[in-house]
Amino acid sequence: MNRKFKLILIAAFVLIGVVAFLLVIRTPGEDASPQAEQKFLRVGPKEITIRNVTKDPVTYTLAPVGSNIKPIEKHLAVGAVERVPTTQTLVVAYQKNGREVSYSLYPGKPYSFRYDSSDQLDIWIGAHGREDAEDLAPFVPTPPEVVNKMLELAKADKDSVIYDIGCGDGRILVTAAKKYGSRGVGIDIDPVRIKESKANARESGVEKLVKFREEDATKTDISLATIVTLYLLSESNELLRPKLERELKPGTLIVTHNYIVPGWEDKEIDSATVMDKEGKSHSIFLYKR
Ligand SMILES: C[S@@+](CC[C@H](N)C(=O)[O-])C[C@H]1O[C@@H](n2cnc3c(N)ncnc32)[C@H](O)[C@@H]1O
Repeated sequence: MNRKFKLILIAAFVLIGVVAFLLVIRTPGEDASPQAEQKFLRVGPKEITIRNVTKDPVTYTLAPVGSNIKPIEKHLAVGAVERVPTTQTLVVAYQKNGREVSYSLYPGKPYSFRYDSSDQLDIWIGAHGREDAEDLAPFVPTPPEVVNKMLELAKADKDSVIYDIGCGDGRILVTAAKKYGSRGVGIDIDPVRIKESKANARESGVEKLVKFREEDATKTDISLATIVTLYLLSESNELLRPKLERELKPGTLIVTHNYIVPGWEDKEIDSATVMDKEGKSHSIFLYKR
């Protein structure tokens, strides 16, 4: 074989190698397989998702409930989501206040490591298992007495345009539309909540006044609001603060249930405490942008 022919043969092999490499290797962002799409969906029935919304990496162990298997140690970076395929209930264990605590985690449910009110690590049920959106808070509805007081403090009326960020079953906006004729836009990432909200609006005959959108609230334009209602955790209110400052017109009222907007101490203009039917006390904070 002469030298020239050898060189052509080597070049052909290199070219075939490069083409094969490009065909096989795809970056994760380009992967459009059903499995890749699945990760943007809510948690599937045969998996548990665990998200770290704290400001520190979290170390924990997982083991099937009631088994003698040695628990597996895991590490979760800040903001990361771990998807655990399982049909079994798992036990999660981690250090809290210098001692080990453990909880059961159920398949089909999303969970989040958050700080509790004493700034200690804890695990809570989450709103979704998506990796492309913040988990602002799990669904916990505001009791009717608290909804009424929030709307009263914000002086809702027929000219108000109320945005409920993380609207749950839509009760705040449906109540405002029924009582005051206010218009409203509810945003929730959970399709089940949006369905409930639309059904509630229909039942109350206010579907012309309120709209509900299945969206990530951190990415929704809220600039048309005259009132914003929030029943989210403090760290979520803090995360949303730059967006509220950027998009809301001066004079917009922001009314929060139970959780303050950290960094807005100078914007707080009123507050109230309301007892619900079960005798539980709720705080309401009113801010002016
Ligand atoms: C505590 S509930 C509040 C429900 C309602 N605003 C109320 O006061 O009755 C919080 C809601 O935020 C939703 N949520 C969580 N993360 C979200 C996100 N990134 N975008 C939109 N909604 C989100 C949850 O699905 C849940 O319904």
